[in-house]
Amino acid sequence: MNANTLPGQPHIAYQANTLCMENVKLADVAAQFGTPVFAYSKASMLSALAAYQRGFAGRKVQIFYAMKANSNLAVLQVFAKAGCGFDIVSGGELARVLAAGGAPEKIIFSGVGKTRAEMKQALELGIACFNVESEAELEVLNDVALSLGQKAPVSLRVNPNVDPKTHPYISTGLKGNKFGVAHENAVKTYKRAAALPGLSVVGIDCHIGSQITEAMPYLDAMDRILDLVVDIEAAGIPIHHIDFGGGLGIDYNGDTPPAADALWQQLLAKLDARGFGQRQLMIEPGRSLVGNAGVCLSDVVFMKPGEQKNFCIIDAAMNDLPRPAMYQAFHQIVPVRPRAGAMTLVDVVGPVCESGDWIGRDRELNVQAGDTLAVLSAGAYCMSMSSNYNTRGRAAEVLIDGDQVHLIRKRETAADTFQGEHLVP
Ligand code: LLP
Repeated sequence: MNANTLPGQPHIAYQANTLCMENVKLADVAAQFGTPVFAYSKASMLSALAAYQRGFAGRKVQIFYAMKANSNLAVLQVFAKAGCGFDIVSGGELARVLAAGGAPEKIIFSGVGKTRAEMKQALELGIACFNVESEAELEVLNDVALSLGQKAPVSLRVNPNVDPKTHPYISTGLKGNKFGVAHENAVKTYKRAAALPGLSVVGIDCHIGSQITEAMPYLDAMDRILDLVVDIEAAGIPIHHIDFGGGLGIDYNGDTPPAADALWQQLLAKLDARGFGQRQLMIEPGRSLVGNAGVCLSDVVFMKPGEQKNFCIIDAAMNDLPRPAMYQAFHQIVPVRPRAGAMTLVDVVGPVCESGDWIGRDRELNVQAGDTLAVLSAGAYCMSMSSNYNTRGRAAEVLIDGDQVHLIRKRETAADTFQGEHLVP
């Protein structure tokens, strides 16, 4: 690894005191496309994917990229070309997969509130599986499938009730959150699913949370799911595939999640030991494929020294980078062209009219108005969660591939933001 590479960011490094992504100077990206702008490294995405692929060599596994993490068409295209399917949660995401050239038969559909219209659209296209999250959903999906003369392939998302030890907002496999079917009701719900004429039971799935940095919750969840597979099959319902969801964390700030291949070495050993090693497996990673592939470049608008705090006001805000405001999340912030000299303690904040609009608190930086900063680990759940709050157009996005820079989303203009609105007569 290059000595100037930043922790957790193998494709971003300082070369001659200027921050580069692959072979491109990020200052040039900011100058050419303006700020804020998101830049993603294609090599970084593919190497994150390769870690999973290495871990699964010789196994029957399909990777479904959880596209909610970053749903830019070009990002989807990169993963589709690399063999991924997609885990979707809405009709909108389905439309994006098709627009990016993804195959319907490599789509699985998750989410607690699929509408009849979304079910119909997905059934007509022939997606691989519906990950069903409740009995009510089973009944409606059965109904929609029968009305189309089809059988919907289903898997039940089972809530294994393990603690993923992550932020409460992104922990999903515990009792008391809205996701999945309770472990103790799973066999009963499988029997109901198997009895419905419009459904065909094909698998089981779970997803216990996000930004998981330990192997143990996965190992526990796997045990709980395998116990259920035994019980469900004993009831005469074959389970073709087992889907372990997503959730593997990334290094934001010295976090040490297991590498994907190391994690799967442990999980596969458990599957083998329990006699499930040759079962068709599926996973739904999101953040771990794209999170550290992306940065958000933002210019310093003003420095505002204060009595209690010094503020560094940048042109990106909570509408572009919602994670700090929503989850008190930490993103490293570094200058694109570091200055020599003393650091000052600053809060890096955006221009939005909310005290919650901060990007980083108490950071040591030596910056002046006009400098460009890079907010790191911004490839996942940033642009995909962005908004137009304060009538701020969404940022531009570029994909970097070696020395090439491709504009993959143009910056939104103010007019774009009120495009579908109408005055009254
Ligand atoms: N599968 C299901 C059913 C999910 O709900 C999720 C994420 C994933 C897969 C992908 O999880 P990942 O591998 O990305 O952890 N906005 C939050 C994260 C929300 C995750 C929602 N579900 C954040 O910025 O931290």
